[in-house]
Amino acid sequence: MTSQNVKIYITRKIPEAGIKLLQEKGYELNIQPEDRPATKEEIIKDVKGADALLCLLTDKIDAEIMDAGLPTLKIITNYAVGFDNVDVEAAKQRNIIITNTPGVLTNTVAEHTFTLMLAISHRIAEADRFSRAGKYKAWGPELLLGNDLSGKTLGVIGLGRIGSRVAFHAVKGFEMKVLYTDPKPNSEFEKEYGAVYVQNLDDLLPQCDYISIHVPLLDSTHHLINEAALKLMKPTAYLINTSRGPIVDEKILAVALEKGWIKGAAIDVFEFEPEITPELKELDNIILTPHIASATEETRSKMAELAATNIIEALEGRVPPNVIK
Ligand code: GLV
Ligand code: GLV
Repeated sequence: MTSQNVKIYITRKIPEAGIKLLQEKGYELNIQPEDRPATKEEIIKDVKGADALLCLLTDKIDAEIMDAGLPTLKIITNYAVGFDNVDVEAAKQRNIIITNTPGVLTNTVAEHTFTLMLAISHRIAEADRFSRAGKYKAWGPELLLGNDLSGKTLGVIGLGRIGSRVAFHAVKGFEMKVLYTDPKPNSEFEKEYGAVYVQNLDDLLPQCDYISIHVPLLDSTHHLINEAALKLMKPTAYLINTSRGPIVDEKILAVALEKGWIKGAAIDVFEFEPEITPELKELDNIILTPHIASATEETRSKMAELAATNIIEALEGRVPPNVIK
């Protein structure tokens, strides 16, 4: 097979840096031309005859799509760190390699997490709406009072790459105390940052002023934050979610915010995205960002390069850097 015969199907335009790497190899690129996610029908049609599929987290990649790509399809590269949208077992059964884009987005997602923590604590979105509405009549000693991060306790659910970067910012930048849950305690991290491992989520929740979620979406993490969990949190606490929407029961979150079980929330991901539970949009004590935690020019370009590199390595017969096992 010469590289002239190699076909790559890309379900939606990604930043140029990645496209360029693939073009330099002489591959034939088929990029879904519309500014929207591809439909399943389009993917099934266009994956036929492709050697590689570059897909997004908005594409649900199942066995039917994989079968449409066989026998040519060798690698599916997901332009995201999370890969709950890909049926990994089905890919294994078909000897199709799956890769993701970890690492390059860690700091950006951690920055966005902190942006959300600061913004909800200092009531930034609400204050902006207030100012634009012409409601700012005079400086006031008790106008739009928020809360400080410094000195507070952050509970990190999942101390992986992103969770530990968030914890790092919390300790080093804001003198917060960090508690965390994770399947594996990390004693190195504890030593370096004074973080404290808490085995059970139920023990962590009542102790924290902020809870930030950094676990993948799995059967075991679906609705991890449910009614019982929200009721265990302090009424003064804030919930931050930059992981995956279905980890939080969104309908109950709206009730919790409305009834004051918790003080506020700031979330970048939604249970049924792009739909947002309508009740949430009516509330002032929540900030909603449209799944943009990794969306900086720098990081989205690096993700594109990494996705392209994974394809090139696989098609040239080497082990790609980010194989999901
Ligand atoms: C974004 O949500 C990602 O998983 O990269
Ligand atoms: C994902 O990149 C994580 O490990 O947090």
